[in-house]
Amino acid sequence: MNEHRPQRPAVTGLASMTFQSSDPAKALAYYRDVHGWEDHYLRTDAQGNLTNAFVKVNARQWVELRPETAPQTDRLIQFAFEVADAEAMRLYLADRGWKVPASVSMSLLGNLGFLVNDPDGHLVEFIQLSPKGWPSRTRGEPAGLKPLSTTLMHLGFSVYSLDASLKFYRDLLECREFWRGSSDEKTLAWVQMKLPEDENYIELMLYDQPPTLEWLGVLNHFGLEVFSMSETMEEASRRMGPRPYPREVGYSIGKCRHRLANVYDPDGTRAEFMERKTFDGSVTPSSPLPAPH
Ligand SMILES: [Fe+2]
Repeated sequence: MNEHRPQRPAVTGLASMTFQSSDPAKALAYYRDVHGWEDHYLRTDAQGNLTNAFVKVNARQWVELRPETAPQTDRLIQFAFEVADAEAMRLYLADRGWKVPASVSMSLLGNLGFLVNDPDGHLVEFIQLSPKGWPSRTRGEPAGLKPLSTTLMHLGFSVYSLDASLKFYRDLLECREFWRGSSDEKTLAWVQMKLPEDENYIELMLYDQPPTLEWLGVLNHFGLEVFSMSETMEEASRRMGPRPYPREVGYSIGKCRHRLANVYDPDGTRAEFMERKTFDGSVTPSSPLPAPH
């Protein structure tokens, strides 16, 4: 290796996921009243219309909502990784032939970063958090509801070609694959990869046929760490009460042997509660099945 070539800076965490919302006020109420995330940072345009709503998960992680620009389309806009040095990551990716912008820039939140496209065309942001930026600058926690989770444990997104995706996430970002699984026992459905310098992970959500809008809401999702699934779902059900949030609340044990449960925002975007350990301490072997493409 040429020692003068730019080296990859540390990828230190999952930072955020950004979705379109057909009704941001309703979605914000869901994140506040069900998830218990009460700390919202709202941005408006000159006319006072909401442009961005940032929902704090913890001092380094958040979910962002933007008023939809394209009704009845994929809700995912982008997702972001925290890096130790955004400019170093930009130079590293450029050196390895990945298309990057000409410079890093300051985000609305006061953090340095830049956007690239991954092999599926997803917008991926690399963010260097600033102590003066949001959410780092926030202090303390709101006094209201206890959040059901304070950790984005994984980010999942749709992937057409596993090989193409691995060239970016494995070969360039150096994420470490630790599990792959199948839902139909014919082809792979999930490939999970830890960030190179963090225990949290990405979940490549493989699909065969073009996903419907409803299925995109399942594929493009975030995983939230909880410590007791039964207590979490009891509390989630109590908070949801008679509200018309779609789909049933319950939990199951996934093929990965973790207790998990899904809840959905008003647009059908999935949040997946999950315990970090498997329910019985044993690990399901990785599937040897082929990817759909
Ligand atoms: Fe997941």
